[in-house]
Amino acid sequence: MRPTLTAGPTVDKTGGISASSTDPARSAGERPPTGRARVLSGITPSGPLTLGNYLGALRRFVSEQDRADCFFFIADLHALTTPQDPRRLRELALQTAALYVASGLDPQRSTVFLQSQVPAHVELAYLLESTAYVGELGRMIQFKQKGGQPGTRASLFTYPCLMAADILLYQASSVPVGGDQDQHVELARDLAVRFNREYGVTFVVPTLARAALAARVADLADPAAKMSKSAPDSAPGVIRMLDPEPVIARKIARAVTDSDGEVRYDPAAKPGVSNLLDIVAFITDESPDVVTAGVSTYRELKAECTGRVVDVLAPIQRRYAELQADPAALLDVLAFGAERARTEAAPVLARAKAAMGLPPLARA
Ligand code: TYM
Repeated sequence: MRPTLTAGPTVDKTGGISASSTDPARSAGERPPTGRARVLSGITPSGPLTLGNYLGALRRFVSEQDRADCFFFIADLHALTTPQDPRRLRELALQTAALYVASGLDPQRSTVFLQSQVPAHVELAYLLESTAYVGELGRMIQFKQKGGQPGTRASLFTYPCLMAADILLYQASSVPVGGDQDQHVELARDLAVRFNREYGVTFVVPTLARAALAARVADLADPAAKMSKSAPDSAPGVIRMLDPEPVIARKIARAVTDSDGEVRYDPAAKPGVSNLLDIVAFITDESPDVVTAGVSTYRELKAECTGRVVDVLAPIQRRYAELQADPAALLDVLAFGAERARTEAAPVLARAKAAMGLPPLARA
């Protein structure tokens, strides 16, 4: 049965959400005849989003909206690969959705949804698990890092197939992610190619758009590690998107540097200083060398970094606070997005099932 679209919300210029009409181009459940690229990405709500998530992912999502058909979702099922308190997971999933919108994702132009509200993801994931090899899943860096301990969940092993399903269901050609996710996107490509070869052409094979942010935003207290949202809430080196200005200032003031006192971009020899230069450079879209030329002491560099981070996050935090005033409107956005996503995903899932030999539903 084809779902009907409900009236959907829009986000006004200030980030507030208001009711609006349906999008007729999407109501037929077909690819809109735009000829535009399909872009898809997601973030796992395994902790409050960080500056790394913003610079490595969200900011890029927002910039894709004008040129592509975009699908951006909250990967709440992926969070279940590690233990989560159910109440906190629910809060983080909704907080992540609100941060998507507050950062500038427009639910009219982009399909914004919760992964768990589109059952096709899990169905296709199982079909892809039935094409993936244990050996290739065992080689995934994240499994090698986090797996192997007592109590490791089976879903931590299989979740790259769920991620492949996320991508392939929407015929996405481009998947903007930070460098830490490249291996998973490559697996999605491999599975699509294998499926198409064994069962007939069914999926669009995504390209690997290597992260513009080749490196990543590192933890300010441990520049050898990535800034991770699943670090403890109190982690001193992790800037959260919702950290108030004084907290941001304190974390940057305490960022690890080194003792030679020279502001120079050298990620191997000076990882702490280089990370601060990178952060400013990512925000200003300049090269780290240009940033280096503008500051002469670590104190100046930290002040510059704090100012830039606060400038970029403060307007998002204001819009987030506005969205918090109307939680029902955010749920409307997500219901609207899930409806659109279900409509887009259904024919692709049906094709994949048929290709594998699963009989269709008898007509009623
Ligand atoms: P996740 O939630 O770990 O990260 C979300 C996005 O943020 C990027 N990122 C960073 N970029 C720069 N510096 C950092 N410190 C940093 N930390 C995180 C990540 O590269 C990613 O782009 N499995 C995925 C979510 C996912 C997904 C998908 C992505 C599920 N299905 C389908 C794309 C397509 C994950 O856990 O990302």
